Amino acid sequence: IACVLVSYVDFVKHSNEVAELVEIDWDNLGFGFLPTDYMYVMKCARDGNYSKGELQRFGNIELSPSAGVLNYGQGLFEGLKAYRKGGNILLFRPEENAQRMRMGAERMCMPSPSVEQFVEAVKATVLANKRWIPPPGKGSLYIRPLLMGSGAVLGVAPAPEYTFLIYVSPVGNYFKEGIAPINLIVEHELHRATPGGTGGIKTIGNYAAVLKALSAAKAKGYSDVLYLDCVHKRYLEEVSSCNIFVVKDKVISTPAIKGTILPGITRKSIIDVARSQGFQVEERSVTVDELLDADEVFCTGTAVVVSPVGSITYLGKRVSYGEGGFGAVSQQLYSVLTNLQMGLVEDTMNWTLEL
Ligand code: COI
Repeated sequence: IACVLVSYVDFVKHSNEVAELVEIDWDNLGFGFLPTDYMYVMKCARDGNYSKGELQRFGNIELSPSAGVLNYGQGLFEGLKAYRKGGNILLFRPEENAQRMRMGAERMCMPSPSVEQFVEAVKATVLANKRWIPPPGKGSLYIRPLLMGSGAVLGVAPAPEYTFLIYVSPVGNYFKEGIAPINLIVEHELHRATPGGTGGIKTIGNYAAVLKALSAAKAKGYSDVLYLDCVHKRYLEEVSSCNIFVVKDKVISTPAIKGTILPGITRKSIIDVARSQGFQVEERSVTVDELLDADEVFCTGTAVVVSPVGSITYLGKRVSYGEGGFGAVSQQLYSVLTNLQMGLVEDTMNWTLEL
C-alpha cells in the first residue's frame, strides 16, 4: 500500500509540474537565448540610491544613444543557474554573484545593488519565470544579471544613472560537443587581460576582447581559446568562457587569482569539492609546458559546469588526453558538484538556496 501511495503522490506532483511547464523541445536545449515571460529592472538615480525594483514583461529596453554603457563600455554581467527539484527550485550560491558584482562595480565606478537586493531580485525573477525552468535532468534556467551605466555622458566619465536588470533563459550544454570533451587552442598573439586591467571582473568588454580569437578558433573547429599571460606568454590564464584546471599525478592545479583571471564561482566551488574529496589543489602560476604534460585537463564555469578537455593545440602541436579526454578526476568532481546543484544529495556545503 505504501508503494502505491508513494507512486500516486509522485504522479500528482509530476502532473502539476508538467502543467507548469512551457511547451518547448526540452530534449534539445543548447546555450542559445530564448525570451521568457518577465525581467527585473531596478534603477539608480544621480543620488546613488537604487529605487525599488520591479518585474516587467520581458522586452526591449530604451537607452539614450549617449548611455555610458554604449559609449564607454561601463557595464558588468553575472551568470548563475536555477534547477528544478521536484516542486521546488534550487539556486546555487547567488550571494557569491552579488558580491562579485559589487567588486566589479567598484572597479568600474558604478553603484551596485546590495547583496540582499541582488538575491531578492534573482529570486523574484526566477519565480516569475518558473515555467521556463527545465524539468530535472534536461538543463537549467540561466540567470543573467546586468549592471550598466544607462545615463547619458559625452566626455569620458561615469554615467549619471544606472540600471540593474535580470533576464533568464532555459539552457542545456554550453558547448556543441555536449558533455563530450572539448578541443582548445592556445592563443599566442592576442590577449584577454593585462596586469592592472579589468580581467579579474566580469565587465562586458572582456568578452568583446576575445571575439576575434574565438571566432578564428571556431572557424577552425576548436571549441574555445585558452589565453596566456601577456607579459611572459608562458603562464595559463583562462578560456574565453571558463577557468582551467590541470591534473598531474592526482594533484590538481589552477592559475591563481591575481587580477587578470575571473574569480569563477564554479572554480572556487570545485576547489572546495576537490579538497573535500581528498585531492591536493594548488592555486599558483601554471605553465603551458605543464598543461601539455598533464594527465587530465578540465574547464569550469557556470555555463560550462565542468567540461573535460580532449585536446590542446599549442603553436601547431596537438596534445590529446587520456581516453579521449574523459578523465577520472573531472568525472568525479563533475558528479559531486552537479548532484549538489540539482539537489540529488544532501547539501553538506550549504551552497544551495531552495525557493
Ligand atoms: C558563465 O559561465 O556564466 C559566464 O558568464 C560565461 C559566459 C561567457 C557564458
